[in-house]
Amino acid sequence: MCPPWHFEVTYRINPWMDPGQRTVDRDRAKAQWTQLRAILAQSSEIVEIDPLPGLPDMVFTANAGLVLGGQVVLSRFRHVERRGEEAPFRAFFRSRGATIEALPDEMFFEGAGDALFDRRLPILWAGSGLRSLLQGHEWLSLKLGCAVVSLELVDPRFYHLDTCFCPLADGSLLYYPAAFSPASQEAIETHVLPRERIAVTLEDALQFACNAVNQGTRITLHALSSPLRKALESRGFEVVETPLDEFLKAGGSAKCLTLRLDEALAPGSPGDRTGSRST
Ligand code: ARG
Repeated sequence: MCPPWHFEVTYRINPWMDPGQRTVDRDRAKAQWTQLRAILAQSSEIVEIDPLPGLPDMVFTANAGLVLGGQVVLSRFRHVERRGEEAPFRAFFRSRGATIEALPDEMFFEGAGDALFDRRLPILWAGSGLRSLLQGHEWLSLKLGCAVVSLELVDPRFYHLDTCFCPLADGSLLYYPAAFSPASQEAIETHVLPRERIAVTLEDALQFACNAVNQGTRITLHALSSPLRKALESRGFEVVETPLDEFLKAGGSAKCLTLRLDEALAPGSPGDRTGSRST
């Protein structure tokens, strides 16, 4: 995680951001972040990266890169406003001794914001269309040695995969279907059984209910409706709501504020890891 000491909204690279109108209350943001950190620290060790002035979105560490075991694919941001984050994130991973995979030239990839490992199947779900480029998915599959399922994002409000899609520990999937192209909705339906699909309403999607941090049986998020809470609780999850509205002003919430450093592929037969791809 990255403390929000320099967090603010000074530019607009997604529809949530409105520098003139949606001014961040920095003290409130700090309190919200600190509370999120405390909740997550109950079940995980938290590692922090130092925030830097002039990089207000650095708090969204999900976009630093994609970790798998000791490997990390560093992000290359689509928008110039965030490119200054690439060097400090690189230095962070280097200091941890990670094997750094450099992206091919001309490739945009925004890390774990756009690439989420399934928790039951040995696959990587990868988003494209708004930030990361589809062309990078095959490369990811080869580099990481896992199958990648490409998903096309079509609603600018849900510009990163993790804003509308969250694979859960029991193999189920929390997601907002209309954020995806019809072909990608089909791809999801091909891989995930109906009883494992938890489709959320637009109202829940707009409160970033899918941008959830799942640690074992606990799910931490900004807010959700009571039907969605019941659906998750009936699957055995404990749901913790913690206000993060200051970060919604930048288009981010709980999951975006974290990057899991101990990411591993779900166990599967080696045949599942050959890098097949579908859209
Ligand atoms: N303002 C940031 C951006 O638009 C928010 C990033 C949120 N991160 C995420 N993983 N969804 O890039």
